[in-house]
Amino acid sequence: MSSSKSNPKTSIIILAAGLGKRMHSSLPKVLVPVCGRPMLFNSLTQLESVVPNARVAIVVGHQKEKVIEQVNAQKFKLQIDYVEQAEQKGTGHAVKCAMSSEWGKRAVANKENVFVLSGDLPLLSAELVKEMCEPFKRGVVLKLLTAVLKDPFGYGRIVRKSKKGGVIRIVEEKDASAREKLIQEVGLSIYTFQAQFLASGVESLKSNNSQKEYYLTDLIQIASSKKRLIDTRIWENVDDVRGVNNPYELSQSGDILNSRIIREHALNGVRFVSLSNCRVEQKVKIASDVSIYPGVILEGNTVIASGATIGTNVVLKNVKVGAYADVKAGTYAEDSVIGENVKVGPYAHLRPESVIGKNSKIGNFVELKKTTIGEDTSVAHLSYLGDAEVGSHVNIGCGFVTCNFDGRVIDGQRKHKTKIEDHVFVGSDCQTVAPVTLKKGSYVASGSTVTEDVPSDALAIARSRQVTKIGYAKKLKG
Ligand code: UD1
Ligand code: CA
Repeated sequence: MSSSKSNPKTSIIILAAGLGKRMHSSLPKVLVPVCGRPMLFNSLTQLESVVPNARVAIVVGHQKEKVIEQVNAQKFKLQIDYVEQAEQKGTGHAVKCAMSSEWGKRAVANKENVFVLSGDLPLLSAELVKEMCEPFKRGVVLKLLTAVLKDPFGYGRIVRKSKKGGVIRIVEEKDASAREKLIQEVGLSIYTFQAQFLASGVESLKSNNSQKEYYLTDLIQIASSKKRLIDTRIWENVDDVRGVNNPYELSQSGDILNSRIIREHALNGVRFVSLSNCRVEQKVKIASDVSIYPGVILEGNTVIASGATIGTNVVLKNVKVGAYADVKAGTYAEDSVIGENVKVGPYAHLRPESVIGKNSKIGNFVELKKTTIGEDTSVAHLSYLGDAEVGSHVNIGCGFVTCNFDGRVIDGQRKHKTKIEDHVFVGSDCQTVAPVTLKKGSYVASGSTVTEDVPSDALAIARSRQVTKIGYAKKLKG
């Protein structure tokens, strides 16, 4: 049951059909990521948190299949419908497409309010959504959100009767006179309308402006000329309402969102040595009591457990870091798992599907690929291990290489497996030519190139014997 006439439901229209030409991206603008997530998802997440069951119409056009597919994959709780705007004739035309659809007709029939916003507002806050979904005061046909900006360039300017008087109209940057361009109060593409007013208003829009488009902003003039009541709110937190039209504005919004993310982690117990030069994407999870040094980039579904330390200039993408692990400076890791109490780096490279067990150590200039390392194992310096399975309590000396590719195709596989079982000791400067297994407790002498399996507890020496010629050095020197 709708509660009363003065308290209608609010439904939502999101404008996402535009080309986003100024972004110069192959992606539709609303899918361009800000801090690792398409900008449209940020607004949808805020809407979901405040009005989880609201009806939402997303107006799609340019690359609509991509937008629909990506939004659907997120499984938002909101009741999302898509309305097509086949030709992009402006924001007013986009809303007209929504209001003349079944979706819009239902909004009118139910006497709903309709919150309209553009899809390029990644910094929208929950407070703002709450404000726009509040029931209207009696007689109000539209609630208009504005902000006062130091640099209003590009935004529609709010023209008032007098300095503190009512709003008469919004004039777009491209249509504004030199005097109007001096106005610092701007429209934000954020409004709520009475459905009936909106439906009839968009029908009467004209495109006699510099861009030959139907401007949604012209509804303000329609309301004011008809002496309908406009509730104008100036939004103080200008960061919440930044539109993103080009890569410069994208970076500005990214910086703001990033600092919001870092602030939240810091208040939850993460210690950032510096607040200003780490990047943390939105899906990253960090437990309390973690220290993060400058220049760190945490991306994707990275999860860091309590007590871990992430050194300077470390990049982690979809990496799970265990409790008390120490990931040292300059390490780059992707799609990998770093176990509890593990030490990695400085300057280690963990390529996808690397898993390092508890208490192990992967030292400087070590590269792992598709390699699992057991517990209490050490690969301390200058090594490459690919397609390898290494057990626990293994010690691998400096400069070891698993030769996993020698041009042969065995059972359809070009890359071959190396197995190094528990308690194996590999001396420095060794290679193993895969497929090969070093069995439990075996020992490989320094400088060996191992081409055959080494049995358990055996010693393999695969190098030429030393020849020492007494006095020969003197002869060489002449
Ligand atoms: C718009 C407003 C401007 C305001 C600014 C705030 C108009 C005419 N101008 O300008 O007053 O200051 O937002 O950020 O409304 N879209 C469609 N179909 C179209 C055209 C656009 O769906 O035919 C969508 C776009 O995908 C975008 C949104 O509408 O998400 C806004 O369009 P955009 O071109 O970014 O408008 P601005 O120039 O920023
Ligand atoms: Ca915009």
